[in-house]
Amino acid sequence: MARILTGIQSSGRPHLGNILGAILPAIELSKKDGNDCFFFIADLHTLTSAAWMAFGFDTSKNTFYRQSDVPEVCELAWYLSCYFPYQRLTLAHSFKDKSEKLAEINTGLFTYPMLMAADILMYDAQIVPVGKDQLQHLEFTRDVAGRFNHQYGETFVLPEARIDEKVMVVPGIDGEKMSKSYNNYIDIFLPEPELKKKVMSIVTDSLPLEAPKDAEQCNVYKLFQLVAEAHEAATMRQKYAQGGYGYGHAKKELLEKLLTKYSQERERFNYYMNHLPELDLALKAGAEKARQTGQVVLHRVREKLGF
Ligand code: ADP
Ligand code: TRP
Repeated sequence: MARILTGIQSSGRPHLGNILGAILPAIELSKKDGNDCFFFIADLHTLTSAAWMAFGFDTSKNTFYRQSDVPEVCELAWYLSCYFPYQRLTLAHSFKDKSEKLAEINTGLFTYPMLMAADILMYDAQIVPVGKDQLQHLEFTRDVAGRFNHQYGETFVLPEARIDEKVMVVPGIDGEKMSKSYNNYIDIFLPEPELKKKVMSIVTDSLPLEAPKDAEQCNVYKLFQLVAEAHEAATMRQKYAQGGYGYGHAKKELLEKLLTKYSQERERFNYYMNHLPELDLALKAGAEKARQTGQVVLHRVREKLGF
């Protein structure tokens, strides 16, 4: 059995890129026999939790919780930070990037990698699916766990990062990577009229309706082929190539596809957003499970440290 753990920050409404690039691949892992998944929200935001539930993360078999419901993680982060060299933390890319942009740098930003290490080590996680940008944080985690184990004997499980090269990069309505920070995202949970507006605003060139077009160059097609069946994408490619098929037609097909493909998820998302206490209950139950697992590890650490 492998324990899989990952955390997602939630800085806004989860968009198509987050769903296809992170949420669905993680849920696939959670469905494989023998995998025991701990997925958590690195924040208090409800929108992201509703998206995980809407896409069918089975919280009866796995563990879904908020970081902030497990305060023990801060205690572990403190112990870990006492075994990690200050100099190495100054080399963290995430810290360097942000500190160049900010006028004032707080200590939390600096020690953040130790909190992330505690997030992982607290649950004996073996596999941690993350994006490339988190690789260095995983190295720090293995490093601090190794240092502690070396000094006190086997205490922590050394986790491995799982970077899935195949995970798609979903383009936004302007063709750049879809991101909340670029404001080019498609929020598939929007009410139909607003979703329609968003899809209609996808940027295209100005070739006339009659002209034959190259689907591969078109932002509408790029999104369509990520959500449609292969034969549907092939049909759209053909229509583009023949001419007489405009971007408005393609946008309409994309909108239809999003609405039908995600109709159940849209309904479930709205259901949870209108029944927040239910979401809360699931997260609270998850936190109980997470705390039980985490306390065993913390106990191990406290014993080694002589508390
Ligand atoms: P954003 O860029 O919108 O702020 P985050 O950095 O919060 O997104 O990413 C959350 C998760 O979603 C990460 O695992 C990230 O790799 C994934 N993700 C974000 N944008 C995309 C995208 N355009 N295509 C594929 N995956 C994405
Ligand atoms: N640092 C991660 C991010 O910015 C989020 C995160 C926090 C995380 N703790 C984690 C990811 C533990 C994996 C495991 O995306």
